[in-house]
Amino acid sequence: MNILILGGGGREHALAWAIRQNPKCDRLIVAPGNAGIANVAECAALNIESRADVLEFAQQNAIDFVVIGPEAPLAAGVSDALRDAGFLTFGPSQAAAQLEASKTFTKEVCDACNAPTAAWARFDNGAEARDYVTAQGAPIVIKADGLAAGKGVTVAETIEQAHGAIDAIFDGEFGDTSVVIEEFMEGEEASFFILSDGTDCLPVGTAQDHKRVGEGDTGPNTGGMGAYSPAPVLTEALQDQVMERIVRPTVAEMARRGTPFQGVLYAGLMIKDGTARLVEYNVRFGDPECQVLMMRLGGQILDLLLACAEGQLAQARVSWADDHAMTVVMAAKGYPGAYEKGSVIGGLKDLQEDSFQMTFHAGTADRDGATVAAGGRVLTCTGRGANLSQAHQRAYAQVEAIDWPQGFCRRDIGWRAL
Ligand code: AMP
Ligand code: GLY
Repeated sequence: MNILILGGGGREHALAWAIRQNPKCDRLIVAPGNAGIANVAECAALNIESRADVLEFAQQNAIDFVVIGPEAPLAAGVSDALRDAGFLTFGPSQAAAQLEASKTFTKEVCDACNAPTAAWARFDNGAEARDYVTAQGAPIVIKADGLAAGKGVTVAETIEQAHGAIDAIFDGEFGDTSVVIEEFMEGEEASFFILSDGTDCLPVGTAQDHKRVGEGDTGPNTGGMGAYSPAPVLTEALQDQVMERIVRPTVAEMARRGTPFQGVLYAGLMIKDGTARLVEYNVRFGDPECQVLMMRLGGQILDLLLACAEGQLAQARVSWADDHAMTVVMAAKGYPGAYEKGSVIGGLKDLQEDSFQMTFHAGTADRDGATVAAGGRVLTCTGRGANLSQAHQRAYAQVEAIDWPQGFCRRDIGWRAL
């Protein structure tokens, strides 16, 4: 089978690494890929947000299966173009990808199927939004409606802060958008990943991440500085509750609307007193959450993604090991603010890499045979073991072995669960 993965981050390195282990995989191409992905697959330069370019590439390379990693090509309708042309594709349609691309859309779906989530209101006008906040009081959550690369959300502690966030949105900081204002939910956050073929659902793992850049969960938000799986807070009973009250109703509502969801649903949950409420959906694997999931699932992921794309999830089963995984992100100093690119990373060639320890590349490039930093999040050092402390020890052993003075990581990944 000839397989094409779209994307070039740590998530796609982990997907490629796992898919490569499945004997069904003959040829594996990742576009655009990165220096680490080049060790497990062919990399190809391609504008992955262009329907026409991706389609032409898939035709020219006799691709049998396309796996779409990031949200941007999904929001651009690349999966629709591929499926219309007859390519077996993993990833939701543009219409179904609205579950991530539009906060209003998700809230309306939740209301229609009675899925528990924060109370909300939407405004197209700053003055009304400000008045609503004044009436509701703080803390309160202000969100730009569209995709904002994780930067469109303000958890406001005070009314003044909330008003400032509303003004920034209507000043056009996130383009032409409206504002969604939500009740502040207290609790512990966890992520739940579920494959859906449009009708049937199959959970493929839980994880918790660390969004803040600094130790002790301080400082600005990032794309994620580390993650671990499973998330102890998402017990089996709670997973059943979430499937029953949130995930299955959402999948049924999407089908009822004529826009079935096919792909991975990443449910961000807030858990308090044995009850989970939905914070948000993403329509792709998380990065770096994917790294810990792939480390645990290994080569079977290809069979699961194929079953999902073929509408055969009812017959699919995950074979679980009683294991734990942790990933630690190494980022360029300055991230999530300004940072430099191009510094040389040493020690990678001597790393022992196997099914218990893998350094997945998030933002790297090859420069005359040397691996250099090419992004904010650069490496994701991932360990697996019989328990979380073993996974932790293996992840940090890779951090220690990597010689990259221009990088940094959080030393406390997993503190909540360890
Ligand atoms: P989102 O982009 O919607 O995932 O929001 C980013 C982060 O903001 C979430 O991971 C939560 O930590 C926080 N957040 C979003 N909405 C709420 C809410 N209604 N209550 C409390 N925290 C929230
Ligand atoms: N790690 C958070 C995300 O992928 O959205």
